Amino acid sequence: MISDTKGSKPAFFIQSNYIKKFFNKYKLHYFFGLIALLAVDYVQTLVPLIVGNVIDQIELNNFDADFVANAVFKLLGIAFTIYAGRILWRYFIFGSARSIERDIRNDLFQHLEKMSAKYYQDHSPGEIMAHMTNDLEAVRMALGPGILTLFDVMALGTITVYNMIVKIDPLLTAAAIIPLLMIAVSVRFMGREMHKRFSGRQEAFAQLSDFVQENLSGIKVIKSFVQENKSIEAFEKVNKNTFNKNMRLIKLQALMHPYMSMIAGLALAVAIGYGGYITIYGKITLGEFTAFIQYLGMLVWPMMAVGMTINMFTMGSASLERIENILNEPVEIKDSEEAVPINSFDGSIEVKDLNFKYPDSDKYVLSDINFKVEKGQTLGIIGRTGSGKTTLVNLLLRIFDPNDSTIFLGGYNILDIPLNVLRKNIGYVPQDNFLFSDTISNNIDFGLRKEEQEKIIEAAKAASVHDNIVEFKHGYETFIGERGVSLSGGQKQRISIARALIKEPEILILDDSVSAVDTDTEEKILTHLKENRKNKTNVIIAHRISTIQDSDLIIVLDEGKIVETGNHHELLQNKKGLYSSIYEKQLLEKMLEQE
Ligand SMILES: Nc1ncnc2c1ncn2[C@@H]1O[C@H](COP(=O)(O)OP(=O)(O)O)[C@@H](O)[C@H]1O
Ligand SMILES: [Mg+2]
Repeated sequence: MISDTKGSKPAFFIQSNYIKKFFNKYKLHYFFGLIALLAVDYVQTLVPLIVGNVIDQIELNNFDADFVANAVFKLLGIAFTIYAGRILWRYFIFGSARSIERDIRNDLFQHLEKMSAKYYQDHSPGEIMAHMTNDLEAVRMALGPGILTLFDVMALGTITVYNMIVKIDPLLTAAAIIPLLMIAVSVRFMGREMHKRFSGRQEAFAQLSDFVQENLSGIKVIKSFVQENKSIEAFEKVNKNTFNKNMRLIKLQALMHPYMSMIAGLALAVAIGYGGYITIYGKITLGEFTAFIQYLGMLVWPMMAVGMTINMFTMGSASLERIENILNEPVEIKDSEEAVPINSFDGSIEVKDLNFKYPDSDKYVLSDINFKVEKGQTLGIIGRTGSGKTTLVNLLLRIFDPNDSTIFLGGYNILDIPLNVLRKNIGYVPQDNFLFSDTISNNIDFGLRKEEQEKIIEAAKAASVHDNIVEFKHGYETFIGERGVSLSGGQKQRISIARALIKEPEILILDDSVSAVDTDTEEKILTHLKENRKNKTNVIIAHRISTIQDSDLIIVLDEGKIVETGNHHELLQNKKGLYSSIYEKQLLEKMLEQE
């Protein structure tokens, strides 16, 4: 998913204030790295001169021991400087690029953690992963190899060409360099095509791995529907696509290397032809001639690097722009400026004239909602799928923000409660409960970290899941998820409940959290809540009347409106009401089951 680089100028990279901040942070590293690089480049360009000088001295028969020792000594010094310098610039420049990569990745993750549910509706995990990997890599390439080649090209190119012109011959230099310029131009343009094909290959590979992953996780479904052959056929197609994309890249690479060698050869031919000619006529010495040939060889790299550097900065700029766009995405749900400095609040809930529609939608999913629950009471919510139950919970947790002054918790306007205080005091078991690939005990004390084992066990007992857990071979240390045991729906629900209970929250919200639990176990959990959560509030959303019939207040939602409220007995008085009809239906079902 590397998007194309149109529209982004390489200069964007250097001008970005965000990047400048990092250059500033690592300026000493870059400084030392570049000093080492320049030292290497400088001493490298001395070699042809020394070698040329040796040849000239041989020709003049001035070749004595002192002279040889001097030349050897110099060459050894140069070799050592190059050796040490290369280690240093690698460490300092590539090290800085890696450090900045890490810093940006941290920035991205921190920012992503602040983004709202809405953001994740608009951006898929795959898309975000592409930014965190591909884009970040392109930025790192500009920061490391990009900066390196930029300075290398400038230093090595300048010193080499300067020596060729001033110390050898300007005309010869011009004649030999012109073909080399073609390398720079073609790398720049072929580089673009190369990048396109490279991205194509990456994308094909991503598709391939997605395909394998999905088909292997869904292997049971595939087998039970006897779809193996179809799956194999589809795989062959995806695999062929990957092959084709690889071949496209290989073909271009196959073209590129010989092409560049050919141009380098052409430049060499010109240099030898014309250079040999002016050597014979004594315009330059034999030593100068050999030095020139060596310089020409040294120029091939900078010529290739000019194009590469421009490409790296173009790609880096485009990627940086996308990364900055994420970082500049405003945090939608945050503490209000009038946030009250509290650490906790009582569990009373008051909802006043609440109307709500999701962002980017015109339909009100909640309207005219009014109710009040005192601290220590239990609120039951029942209603058909899509009636707005989960939406109400989303608002209580500020996963989405309600309108101002519509929801009050413990007497505080919910928008004025600091987010972390709000969420610390609410225990939430989402409808689509989620467990991490980790041990059971880590999944339960997730909310509190480093709880003592006893508290974990206590919470698991309260959620009626302790007996199941101890039956696993590794008990609480059993690993769950893709690489561990897989749990039943009911077990997952109860572990999620334990996770919420261990927080001992002021408000506990169970969103359809016992739907996969049998009624006896459900009763145990509810009894526990009643006995152990005195003075704390419970909000229980359910499909089954049995789950909520003991609630102090029950609200019946239908199409976003409260159609009935009261306790179980009051609601049953209204024989024509929705509650009564659900009750009758479930009673009938139960009788049928028992027969
Ligand atoms: N994130 C969302 N964006 C837009 N509409 C949503 C979103 N979540 C739920 N809805 C819509 O809001 C309505 C109520 O959904 P929900 O609160 O999940 O119902 P329930 O929990 O009672 O089954 C449904 O029509 C649903 O399609
Ligand atoms: Mg729901």
